[in-house]
Amino acid sequence: MRATLGFDVYGTLIDTEGVVHKLEGMVADPREFSRRWREKQLEYSFRRGLMQNYESFAVCTRDALSYTSLALGAPLTNQQKVDLLETYRTIPAFPDVREALAGLQEKGYRIFAFSNGTAEAVEKLLETARIRDLFMGVVSVDDLRSFKPNPAVYSHFLRQSGAGGSAWLVSGNPFDVIGAVSAGMRAAWLKRSEGAVFDPWGIEPTVTVRSLGELETAIAEVENR
Ligand code: 2OP
Repeated sequence: MRATLGFDVYGTLIDTEGVVHKLEGMVADPREFSRRWREKQLEYSFRRGLMQNYESFAVCTRDALSYTSLALGAPLTNQQKVDLLETYRTIPAFPDVREALAGLQEKGYRIFAFSNGTAEAVEKLLETARIRDLFMGVVSVDDLRSFKPNPAVYSHFLRQSGAGGSAWLVSGNPFDVIGAVSAGMRAAWLKRSEGAVFDPWGIEPTVTVRSLGELETAIAEVENR
């Protein structure tokens, strides 16, 4: 049986910068706003996980939007916030996703989406991006009412995906890669931008790739060692 691959969703398959165009005309620096919004969204998920004060990832996203608007002195109307959050629920996939995952699927890899988002939100994103057919299923941390990188959510992925042998996380988020490796999985770090920095904790990705197109070769090399 080929390896099981759990693909992180936001920032790996789905381009969170897809909201930038919607922010144009609403805020002075759409790219900076989008970056700060994303950072705060993740921070809220980490804090809610630690505090055991779970609300869905969509709530983290909503509250982070309000925070960013306040912090950057970029006032948004309620309608603008509603529109931005609706855009967030339907942002597009990165251009390399379909071809790369279709190739892996053809080779017999078992492909899952594995996300902080609820199953419902992830299903909708994948449907809208027209890539749902590439996945055997969606595994969400929402089942455990916790977030990555709680080790329990990686164990949950292994159980839910029925990963018998080798299981990989594929993620553009270094904290996610470190979480998966610490929980005993293999992990591919998708270094989508030249300037991306991996946390210097001494816990390294099993492989690093620059695009999803490089993934199959990189994984096969490790699997066939
Ligand atoms: C995800 O779980 C961490 O945002 C990332 O989809």
